[in-house]
Amino acid sequence: MGRPRKVLSEQAQKDIVATQAVIDDKTKDVQSLRGMRDTLPQDQKYWQFIYSKLIPIVEAYGFSRIDTPILESTSLFKRTIGTDTDIVSKELFSFIDKNGDDICLRPEGTAAVAKAYIEHGMFSEVQPVKLYYIGPMYRHEKPQDQRFRQFHQFGFEIIGDRSPILDVELILLVTELYKELGIGTPNVEINNVGCKKCRTEYKQALLSYYKSRRYKICSNCNDRLSRNPFRVLDCKEDRCIEAKEGAPNFVDYLCDECQGYFIKTLEHLDALKISYNLNNYLVRGLDYYTKTTFEIWSSNDKGGKHALGGGGRYDYLIEDLCGRDVPACGYAGGIERLIAAMKENNVVVPEKKKADVFLAHLGEQAKIKSLILFEELRKEGVTVAHNLSKNQLRSQLEIANKSGTRLVLILGQKEVLDGTIIIRDMDSGGQEVINFDKIPTEIKKRLEKLNQTHKEVNL
Ligand code: HAM
Repeated sequence: MGRPRKVLSEQAQKDIVATQAVIDDKTKDVQSLRGMRDTLPQDQKYWQFIYSKLIPIVEAYGFSRIDTPILESTSLFKRTIGTDTDIVSKELFSFIDKNGDDICLRPEGTAAVAKAYIEHGMFSEVQPVKLYYIGPMYRHEKPQDQRFRQFHQFGFEIIGDRSPILDVELILLVTELYKELGIGTPNVEINNVGCKKCRTEYKQALLSYYKSRRYKICSNCNDRLSRNPFRVLDCKEDRCIEAKEGAPNFVDYLCDECQGYFIKTLEHLDALKISYNLNNYLVRGLDYYTKTTFEIWSSNDKGGKHALGGGGRYDYLIEDLCGRDVPACGYAGGIERLIAAMKENNVVVPEKKKADVFLAHLGEQAKIKSLILFEELRKEGVTVAHNLSKNQLRSQLEIANKSGTRLVLILGQKEVLDGTIIIRDMDSGGQEVINFDKIPTEIKKRLEKLNQTHKEVNL
């Protein structure tokens, strides 16, 4: 028989609940918000690697970098992405600021780049204007696998030309980029969603197809049917995927101009030997698309649940914002999804470079002098590791050993007075005393010799 359980008084129970609430509240303060994540030092190497490949390629293709603000007016996205899209109707991080303005964290980059193009009068530059950006985007989505509330995109926009060769240039650029990042040849899914003219007829055909199938699709899609019927084709729910088999095909409703455009696009892709999959249901989740839409899926993402990126043509977006007819096309890729694909493909990225030397100190004077030496060596291009919090030589040598640094400079009280320093080779354990003023030249000479030996061993 166990001990009789103590019955807690009502007040005691209330106190426990109140204490727990305080603990929960305090814990919340030291946790990231839902769907937001820190990028820790150990993951930075992936980001650095991506930038090191992305920037040279995109600049070689003639793009210039643009950085737009993270906060924008909410109406910019309502007018471009569309009020009936999920991004605007459900996912905007919007709020009224202290001046009473309705503003939001940007959910994507295209509308902001279009705004910058208009605001800075880029119409007068040589067309097309090619811009790229890298940065965080915000969507208040339900966080799940590879879907975050803060995520990062790199994006490319080509503004001021309506030729299909530019859509293809974008596809070539992104497929080559993904290949260089080591994830193999990704799948290109492509469609043409027509222009204002042919969309109306297709919309009617779609509505009449779904009229008798309303009960077969999810409640979200029933809602979408009345607000934005194209979105039904985009739904990833199994029953909606099943119901769309047999739905009318966009291609059959394209006007002559859009059909000709689509054929030219595919011919250019063939000429460049870029394989693609015709995906009649690729309508994309933003309202501004016309003609070409495309997505890039990693080779093992069969249904495009975690698309690496997407894009297409948006010939009316700038006209809708400012009245000037400026056609454009673009692409944006998700960086977190790209890193997930790189990890899945076991892509080896370069580690952070090891320091050339470790600088150890012993005593207060040596600590200060070691900082002066650190700066001097840094300016000479020598990378130096040190730990000013450790005072014992043994613990500093342990750190140097763990970091794999071959050469250690030891500056003690005696050396400070003598104007010398000790160089220790961690592999042989050998030590030498040299003149303090000769360190930069001596260190560079030794590093060169070590590099030479390393190269010969690896031949
Ligand atoms: P999007 O398809 O909405 O297009 O986003 C592009 C990519 O951003 C997605 O394919 C995905 O990799 C990533 N992404 C989107 N939402 C999330 C999320 N919640 N979590 C993680 N990654 C996400 C656009 O944004 C258009 N602006 C693309 C474009 C540029 N069209 C023309 N120019």
